Amino acid sequence: MQKSMSEILLLKLKNTIHFLFLLCLVIGKTNSGNVKPQIVNGEDAHPGEFPWMVSFQRYNERLDRYGPTCGGAIVDHRHIITATHCYNPEAKYRVLVGAHNISKSDSDEPSRQCYEPCRFHIHPNWNKESLTNDILMVTLKHPIDFNDKVQPIRLAPSDSDPVGQTCVVSGWGWLGGTIETSILQKCNLKVISLEECSPWGEGDPLTINEFSVCTLPEQTEKGTAAGDSGSPLICYDKEGPYATGVVSWGPEPPGTGDVYAGVKAHLDFILCNKPQG
Ligand SMILES: *[C@@H]1O[C@H](CO)[C@@H](O)[C@H](O)[C@H]1NC(C)=O
Repeated sequence: MQKSMSEILLLKLKNTIHFLFLLCLVIGKTNSGNVKPQIVNGEDAHPGEFPWMVSFQRYNERLDRYGPTCGGAIVDHRHIITATHCYNPEAKYRVLVGAHNISKSDSDEPSRQCYEPCRFHIHPNWNKESLTNDILMVTLKHPIDFNDKVQPIRLAPSDSDPVGQTCVVSGWGWLGGTIETSILQKCNLKVISLEECSPWGEGDPLTINEFSVCTLPEQTEKGTAAGDSGSPLICYDKEGPYATGVVSWGPEPPGTGDVYAGVKAHLDFILCNKPQG
């Protein structure tokens, strides 16, 4: 019990304590109405709206099944990206794509496909204290079958600069405890400059570096929560959507800011671990 709890706490590290507090409030209240312990103040995504979305699932020996651990994004037929802090080399994982209501069983959601990972590429400068370079590339044993609900996401172009833009993050968020969470959540967030968010990492082992991307909610408190780690932050340019960041951590309380491993800053890592063609 203690162990699985501390493992869960690793997800979206800084927000978690506060999140558990919120969760307690939710559990403590019957009639809690619209309170959703997923992405803070997000809304339901439409089925197939984020076809690149991955549920990175860890095998639970006691329950003899896989359970959602983190989000991720499809890069191409054989590769997905997620956050390194989601990964424990001793555990077994699967990659689920095409999911919408994560509480359903695989057979009840026909758009789902499951893939077996065969290699985990950890960033050479990954630091688990500061959570810098929190990006993991996963190679799959078999190629993903693309369709209208399952598609790759373009990586951030090397000349992209989304600072000031409104982008969107999606995730299944917290899925522990007794709360019924299910539908993929989304929320819009504004990308801010590293100067603006660097104080979030000060005096703390958690660090903003030049490979980070940060967002702020536009008005009300919004953002990612425990379990959204690894999910992609998506921005838009003339050619459409592209992945700009991988959810890593955020300041407290939840919904007051988010920090991502930047995709553009990690293009060499992503592309060089990914054979071309
Ligand atoms: C999601 O799936 C679960 C399990 O089948 C079901 O109980 C729940 O009502 C579904 N949620 C929605 C919003 O459809």
